[in-house]
Amino acid sequence: MTLSRTAAIRVVAPESSSTPARLAAGVAHGDAATIADISAGLLAPQASVSPKYFYDSLGSHLFEAICELPEYYPTRTEAAIFARHGADMAASVGPDATLIDLGAGNCAKAASLFPLLQPRQYVPVDISGDFLQRAAAQLRQRFPAIEVTPLVMDLSQPLALPRSVPVPRRQFFYPGSSIGNFTPHAAVAFLRQVRENVGADGGLLIGVDLVKDPTVLDAAYDDAIGVTAAFNLNLLRHLNHLAGANFEPAQWRHVAFFNDAESRIEMHLEARGALTVQWCGGERAFAQGERIHTENSYKYTVQGFSRLLADAGFRVDGIWTDDARWFAVMHAAAAYA
Ligand code: TRP
Repeated sequence: MTLSRTAAIRVVAPESSSTPARLAAGVAHGDAATIADISAGLLAPQASVSPKYFYDSLGSHLFEAICELPEYYPTRTEAAIFARHGADMAASVGPDATLIDLGAGNCAKAASLFPLLQPRQYVPVDISGDFLQRAAAQLRQRFPAIEVTPLVMDLSQPLALPRSVPVPRRQFFYPGSSIGNFTPHAAVAFLRQVRENVGADGGLLIGVDLVKDPTVLDAAYDDAIGVTAAFNLNLLRHLNHLAGANFEPAQWRHVAFFNDAESRIEMHLEARGALTVQWCGGERAFAQGERIHTENSYKYTVQGFSRLLADAGFRVDGIWTDDARWFAVMHAAAAYA
C-alpha cells in the first residue's frame, strides 16, 4: 500500500507542477440558452450570475439549512406572524378564495394557513413539477374539501393563468420576501402583473423583509458556521455542471453586506487571487478581489412597500408585523375594478 501510494504521488507530482493553475473546461449539461445566459453574465464588465442557479439539489438543501440558522430570522419571523395573526389575515382574504401560491415549493406555508383561510381552491405554482405534484397529492389527503390544482410555471416569464383558475375571489400568496430579490422597479412590474390577474374582488397576501440594524442583516447573510457561504459557493459547482466551467470554489470567498444607499443586502463571490476561468465557449480572467454579483435582497419600510403596492394598483388593507418589526405580512386588495 505504502509503495503504490508513493508511486502514485511520483507519477502525479511532475504532471501537476507542469500544468497551469487552470484546468481544462469540462462537459456542459445545460441547454444552449442556459449556457448563453451564464456566459453573458460572466462576461459583463461587472460579472453576475442569475440567482436561479443557486437551486440545484444541494443548493435547495443548503437553503433549507439556512432557514434553520439562528442568524437567518426571516423564515421563522414570518411563520410566527402567520401563527399569531392568521385569523385577521383570513378576515382580509375572505372565505372561499382561490388561493394562488407563487413559488409554492413544498406548500407548507400556505397549508399552515388553510384551517383559518379555508380556501375553496388552492393553486400552488412552481417551476419544479415533480416536487409540486407530490406536495399536491399529500395536501389532497389532508384537506379533502379543498380543490388542489398545481400549475408548473416559470415565474420569470409573463404571468398568465389558465382558465382552469376561476377569476372570482383570486387571492395571491407570495411569502418569504421573495419580492425583495427583484429591484424595486422590477418588483412593481411583477406586482402589476399580479394585479392584472386579480379580479375586482381579489387580493394579495405578501411577506416583506423590513429595514433594520445592519449588523442583524449582515449576520443573516453571513452566518458564523458558514452555511450561507457554502450556499453561495455551491453556485460555482452548479455552473461547472451547467456550463462545463472549471471554477474552483476554494479560490473564491463569500461576501455579503448591507448596501445602505440601495437598501439591499448584496451577495457576491470574490476571487481570493488572480485567476482565469474557462467554460463552454468562453473564458475570463479575474483580478484578486474582483467579484461576481450573485443576488440582491432589498429591505423595505412598511411605508415604502405600501407605495410599491399602490403603484401596482393595490390598496393595502392589512399590515401585520412581529414585535421587533423585523418582518411584515401585508394584505392588499385591488384598488379599482
Ligand atoms: N431569497 C433569499 C433572501 O434573499 C435568498 C438567500 C438567503 C440568499 N441567503 C442567501 C442568496 C445568501 C444568496 C446568498 O433572503
